[in-house]
Formats: sequence, C-alpha cells, structure tokens
Amino acid sequence: MLYLWVKAFHIIFVVAWFAGLFYLPRLFVYHCDTKDPVGSAQFKLMERRLYLFTIMNTVIAISCGLGLLILQPAWLSQHWLQWKLALVAALLGFQWSCWQVVVNFRENRNTRNGRWYRWYNEIPTVLLFAIVILVVLKPLL
Ligand code: HEM
Repeated sequence: MLYLWVKAFHIIFVVAWFAGLFYLPRLFVYHCDTKDPVGSAQFKLMERRLYLFTIMNTVIAISCGLGLLILQPAWLSQHWLQWKLALVAALLGFQWSCWQVVVNFRENRNTRNGRWYRWYNEIPTVLLFAIVILVVLKPLL
C-alpha cells in the first residue's frame, strides 16, 4: 500500500517537473524576440522563478523514485531501470543547461535565436517518450 502511495506521488511530481521543463524553453523563445528592457527584465524574473520552482519538483519526484527503490530494491538489477536512470541523468544534464541559459539571458549574453530554442525544447519531449515507454513496457525488456 505504501509503495502505491509513493508511486502516485512520484508520478504527480514527475508531471509537475515536466511542466517546468516544457515551459522554460518557451520563455526563452519569447525572450529572444523581446527588445524592450522592461519586457526583458520581466522574462528574467519569470525564468529564474520557474527554474527554482522546477528544481523543487525535481527533488520531490526523484526522492519518491528513490523511495520506490528502497521499498523494492530488486528493480535495481533490471535493465529497464538501469536505462531509465541513464535517461534521467540526461534529463538532469538538460536541466543544468537550462540554468546556463537563464544566466546567459540575465547577463545579456544570449546569442541564440528563437528557432534554436524551439529545437532545444524538443529534448525533454524525446526523453519523456523514452522514459515512459521504458517504465510501461518493462516486462518486454
Ligand atoms: C532518479 C529518478 C527516478 C527513479 C529512481 C525512478 C524510479 C521508479 C521506480 C522504482 C518506479 C516503480 C516501477 C513500478 O512499480 O512498476 C517508477 C515508476 C514510474 N516512473 Fe520513475 N523514477 C525516476 C524518474 C522518473 C522520470 C523522470 C519519469 C518520467 C519521465 C518517471 C516516470 C515514471 C512512471 C510513469 C512510473 C509508473 C510506472 C508504472 O506504474 O507502470 N520516473 N519510477
């Protein structure tokens, strides 16, 4: 029973985490096109706040995931979980790169255009597909 509760919260906070990972690069797209300093200052504030809020959801989602592994350590020897952890590491790398972008905008050092950020926005989508397919189809792996 405890296991299922922890899994429910794991999924809830994964959804909240991804909401941030999808929205932040959209802010970068709109920020690129903003020329006036007042609008740009507003984006800087929104990006920083959203990033910090997303980190909170990341920590809770990962803590619940680790909680599931403590309750069910046998998962650790399964290939689907090892692949999943590798993809989560890639996701955290993407998240770290988002912070670099937030800092670049804050210091007016951004050199990339909206088209670049639209492609960048696809990275969490690809990782989401891969991770969800792994966890759901695990009996076949
Ligand atoms: C370090 C990070 C993570 C750890 C340690 C972890 C671990 C786990 C474990 C042990 C389960 C239980 C599997 C089961 O009972 O069948 C699980 C379920 C799940 N995880 Fe994660 N997870 C992590 C991150 C993520 C991420 C980033 C996503 C989404 C992209 C995700 C999506 C899910 C989903 C949808 C389930 C439910 C699967 C099912 O009930 O069939 N997890 N996770």
